[in-house]
Amino acid sequence: MSTDEFKQISEFITTHYGIKLPDFKKTMVEGRLQKRLRKTGIPSFSAYIDLVFSKHGKEELLEMIDAISTNKTDFYRESSHFDFLTGTLLPKFTKEHAGQKLKIWSAAASSGEEIYTIAMVMEEYNSTINGAINYSILGTDISVEKLKTAISAIYPEDRIKDIPVLIRDKYLMKSKDSSRKVVRFIPSIRSKAQFKRLNLMDNRYDVDDDYDIVFCRNVLIYFDKDLQERVINKLCEKLKPGGYFFLGHSESIIGKKVPLKQIEPTVYQKI
Ligand SMILES: C[S@@+](CC[C@H](N)C(=O)[O-])C[C@H]1O[C@@H](n2cnc3c(N)ncnc32)[C@H](O)[C@@H]1O
Repeated sequence: MSTDEFKQISEFITTHYGIKLPDFKKTMVEGRLQKRLRKTGIPSFSAYIDLVFSKHGKEELLEMIDAISTNKTDFYRESSHFDFLTGTLLPKFTKEHAGQKLKIWSAAASSGEEIYTIAMVMEEYNSTINGAINYSILGTDISVEKLKTAISAIYPEDRIKDIPVLIRDKYLMKSKDSSRKVVRFIPSIRSKAQFKRLNLMDNRYDVDDDYDIVFCRNVLIYFDKDLQERVINKLCEKLKPGGYFFLGHSESIIGKKVPLKQIEPTVYQKI
């Protein structure tokens, strides 16, 4: 890939999806797109660029974004957030808003592990109290491929090692075909989740504006500082006053003008 070809791709990705691609990422981009060239049979990077920037290239453009963005996620990732939910946030919600629905948004949901972790945490909490909290979880991402996995709620067995065995037994079903080493979340868990493709770079987020909790973890780290501030402000518009906002453990609001106060490291509340 020539320097100029890398520049065309990196400028496009940063402008449309926010993801920074500094020069040292050229090898990574080249390696990931090389796989696309092999898969599609396109002979060169310049032919690939011609395709993705043409009106016939919309499908491949989605593949390109998937190939370049980092989708790493896990069940119970950064588990202190889920301890905070169970130990602080949910008891407070039960006390102050009994009978109300709790609306949660996972704003960079990737393949759904974050969404289903939240659902399992909610179910476990509900099993300990009288008057279970009714809740819903919206999962959004730019990656169509990852959203498909999230919607299917099907995961390879080796992906669920971080889910405690007793919890697995309650909320996951094995495939009837034992040669397929996959599991699927049970219908009552799946029914709590809705999905939508949403680009955090959009001017307007087409979602409700009364969320109690927004998770936006491990995505802003790929954006530059000004854009991080803009996105957090737009997410906060969708959060109720007093609602909670979660960032990834290596992200923060330090130095940003956003309507949030810190409650714990990477846990914030809307002012
Ligand atoms: C590293 S994953 C984080 C997943 C999950 N939140 C977690 O912490 O485990 C980052 C996700 O952000 C998504 N993403 C990147 N840029 C985005 C954008 N502009 N709008 C929406 N999602 C984006 C990627 O597709 C990817 O699935």
